[in-house]
Amino acid sequence: MKTALITGITGQDGSYLAELLLAKGYRVVGVVRRSSTTPYERIAHLVDRVELVSADLLDQTSLTDVVHETQPHEIYNLAAQSFVQTSWTQPVLTGEFTALGVTRMLEAMRKAAPKSRFYQASSSEQFGKVIETPQRESTPFYPRSPYGVAKVYGHWITVNYRESFNLFAVSGILFNHESPRRGLEFVTRKITDAVARIKLGLQHELRLGNLEARRDWGFAGDYVDAMWRMLQLDEPDDFVIGTGETYSVREFCIAAFGAVDLDYRDYVRQDEKFFRPAEVDLLVADPSKAEQKLGWTPTVPFAELVRMMVAADLARYERPR
Ligand code: NAP
Ligand code: GDD
Repeated sequence: MKTALITGITGQDGSYLAELLLAKGYRVVGVVRRSSTTPYERIAHLVDRVELVSADLLDQTSLTDVVHETQPHEIYNLAAQSFVQTSWTQPVLTGEFTALGVTRMLEAMRKAAPKSRFYQASSSEQFGKVIETPQRESTPFYPRSPYGVAKVYGHWITVNYRESFNLFAVSGILFNHESPRRGLEFVTRKITDAVARIKLGLQHELRLGNLEARRDWGFAGDYVDAMWRMLQLDEPDDFVIGTGETYSVREFCIAAFGAVDLDYRDYVRQDEKFFRPAEVDLLVADPSKAEQKLGWTPTVPFAELVRMMVAADLARYERPR
């Protein structure tokens, strides 16, 4: 039986990845950070099938101990401060978690389990003010936020450890991926949650920032499968993962409100508070390398993703009524 260690198991991607690996027969060990409460809502249905161990991206000793004791075949480093907007108000913390946290995990693996295979959660935010469209593995990075800068560091330290120490370490440069488990502060979930509340009379307007930003949005369940495929290769390599389609925040609003027969123009208001100091205007992936070398293709198109998220939020609010 293979063992997988997942940092960030309580997050959106961690919960889908844990499900996938359990279905494949893995022993799954998840890193959680110490808290006075146990907010494991995304993995509540899995807690008796996974092992949870305590460690923190800020603490080298705890990370090295966990890797030493677990002796994982595969390490998925998903933990991060992942909300771009917060990275401007907490830039140093974002750097500690999202950049140096990667080095700490790589050091833990190098010292305690050098034969393990390491996946780093890189991001399309690294392309930022894009140099070319669509973005592929060779596209130069131009990050536009402290988060994006931290992810560029995490990306290159992973490549560097692979080349310096001959570790099996790869970066997946993933474009935005969403689901009913997406955090409520991210724009897709903020919209679908509001659509459900407005439809049910619990809310009357939705305040958003830049409606013209364009993203390549896919379904998170598909993207964790790409992570796993990367660690099954004969040779470590980095991949762009996305759908190859791009839509604006405005188009997401049209689809989400349209799913419940509402017109977004009656409810959406723009608010300066949600604009960013520097924006990423356009992201769209060229996933052809992943198609060829991983045999990976996305299975959930944009319209279906939006409908899935709206339906899940409607069901969530309707349940207790
Ligand atoms: P998420 O839902 O925000 O989950 C983040 C996870 O990191 C949570 O489990 C969180 O634990 C954990 N974490 C944060 N700080 C930690 C620390 N100091 N020590 C230990 N754990 C810590 O993020 P996601 O959407 O699943 O994304 C997973 C990864 O992929 C992230 O690295 C993100 O930056 C990256 N990524 C995401 C996307 C996307 O579109 N979703 C695209 C590209 C890359 P708590 O539950 O305790 O907060
Ligand atoms: N969050 C948010 N809230 N975003 C808004 C809003 C709003 O009210 N109004 C407009 N937007 C715009 C943002 O300015 C941005 O251009 C776009 O919606 C998407 O924002 P988010 O959903 O917060 O995601 P992100 O693209 O910044 O970052 C996500 O994707 C990255 C991959 O490209 C996160 O998951 C990152 O962790 C991930 O790396």
